[in-house]
Amino acid sequence: MKISAALSTALLAVSASAAFDKTIPWGKRDYNCVNVWQGIPDNSTIAPGAEINIKFNRDSPKCKELRSFPGSPYSVRLYNNPVRNPEVSWDETVNVKGNITESDGAVSITIPTDLPEVADDSVWYLRLDTSLSTAPQMPTLFHAAGPFAIRA
Ligand SMILES: *[C@@H]1O[C@H](CO)[C@@H](O)[C@H](O)[C@H]1NC(C)=O
Ligand SMILES: *[C@@H]1O[C@H](CO)[C@@H](O)[C@H](O)[C@H]1NC(C)=O
Repeated sequence: MKISAALSTALLAVSASAAFDKTIPWGKRDYNCVNVWQGIPDNSTIAPGAEINIKFNRDSPKCKELRSFPGSPYSVRLYNNPVRNPEVSWDETVNVKGNITESDGAVSITIPTDLPEVADDSVWYLRLDTSLSTAPQMPTLFHAAGPFAIRA
């Protein structure tokens, strides 16, 4: 019994230190190339129903070779408790908004009030992404914000 208690403590320590790295691609041909300079700050707490103005562009030195390809309409999704193992999976995901035009460079979103029940309301991430439908192998480009809490 002593041994198994020690083992489970060690496992807990490992999982606690392995925070989700949102900047690493979430899948194949996924590139962290979208800049966001206004949105949800890391470690903040936001309320359901809150309106958030996001400002974004693709004018970064990152992914230079993909610059000439236009982005399809962008989407914004929430992910609760994403983990990388090594594929990224999560407890819950919620579509927030789609059909965002790249050249707008800004979008106003509302945090849904009907979010699913989650085990931990402090590990939400917001991912803004697009795909390049005319580029070879149709890569996706993203920016992820978080973690933050959604709490009334
Ligand atoms: C958010 O919290 C993490 C873990 O405590 C910390 O490493 C990080 O620096 C914080 N980020 C900000 C922007 O406060
Ligand atoms: C985009 O707009 C079309 C037409 O208004 C709509 O049918 C579709 O559901 C929207 N897509 C998303 C992801 O919001």
